[in-house]
Amino acid sequence: MKKAFTTLALFCVYLSLFATVKIGALLPLTGGVSAFGDLVKKGIELAQGERGTVLGEKIEVVYLDTRSEKTEAANGAARLIDKEGVIAIVGEVISGNSLAAGEIVEKKKVPMISPSSTNPLVTQGKKFVSRVCFIDPVQGIALAEFASKTLKVKKVTVFTDVEQDYSVGLSNYFMERFKKYGGQVLQVQYKSGDQEFSAQLSQALSYGSEAIVVTGYYNEIALVAQQAKSLGYKGYILTGDGADAPELIQIGGQAVEGLYFTAHYHPDAQITSVSKKFVDAYTKKFGSKPSTFAALGYDAYMLLVEAIDRAKSKDPERIAAAVRSIQNFQGATGIITIDSNGNPNKDIIIEVVKNKQFAFAAVISANSLK
Ligand code: PHE
Repeated sequence: MKKAFTTLALFCVYLSLFATVKIGALLPLTGGVSAFGDLVKKGIELAQGERGTVLGEKIEVVYLDTRSEKTEAANGAARLIDKEGVIAIVGEVISGNSLAAGEIVEKKKVPMISPSSTNPLVTQGKKFVSRVCFIDPVQGIALAEFASKTLKVKKVTVFTDVEQDYSVGLSNYFMERFKKYGGQVLQVQYKSGDQEFSAQLSQALSYGSEAIVVTGYYNEIALVAQQAKSLGYKGYILTGDGADAPELIQIGGQAVEGLYFTAHYHPDAQITSVSKKFVDAYTKKFGSKPSTFAALGYDAYMLLVEAIDRAKSKDPERIAAAVRSIQNFQGATGIITIDSNGNPNKDIIIEVVKNKQFAFAAVISANSLK
């Protein structure tokens, strides 16, 4: 009897050596916004290197490529939960994909933390979806405030990517506030993947735009900037966080110099005790300064692991509740308190492209943006 018990105990110890906590990483690793996914992955890898165990078990991260598409994001979330047995997910990166994946995780009651999806609907009415970034109503107001009060422009053309929930939302929040400040707006449309913007640009030019505001992602932003400059446009180009990938400068070159955008993070803005350590560790591991996505990916992973630790359980429902109760979490991108809607209240950074680099221009405090 005693021998059987000892054998069983040894067997359990043996099993626990191999037990892991499985976390899914649902990312666009190929397709239109793969630059975003690759960078988030680096942030997660760094974080896992620093905090690789929780509840006394090793953390295993299962990566799943959404190919930058909504259907794949939804299918991928289901696969991670049903086939891989993950207890929580970091992802997706862009809002449209997080909306699609969010429907699934909500039904299956597994928590998901998006590093970077800013559309308010991503978490609205959901218990299991949270994020570590600010949301578009706040970002839209910050951009409108910067355009009106700092740059003092009165007439703008807004370029909206009608295929992206992110872009449609951000355009609306920007326009609403910009008009409130007395500004005039012409809105033109395009679609992700478009290469040719001359029709929209000639409208923007004949409207007499002092600024062109592109609310989409880096590929199209870079092309709009190039084509605008070649038509002789001399005004400002403003965008939201969708510009924030090194590819913007690689694709846009000289045409994106002077472009202003709202951002989540800049490595020179060392806001918390974690920020500096993060920049040093990242630079050592990857040989370059961290991007916004790497920092947000790092924070999403770290916050999730902290929640698992506090939940003292692998039960996804308890972990989801623990995520929502986190306060004053010291992240690389700032201090994060997740509210009851799954959103943090974070400051917004304004950056400008200068000498082929993203330069820090200003900070707009979240509390001033109501
Ligand atoms: N905020 C964008 C979205 O919701 C994604 C993004 C985040 C893009 C950060 C660039 C930088 O789709």
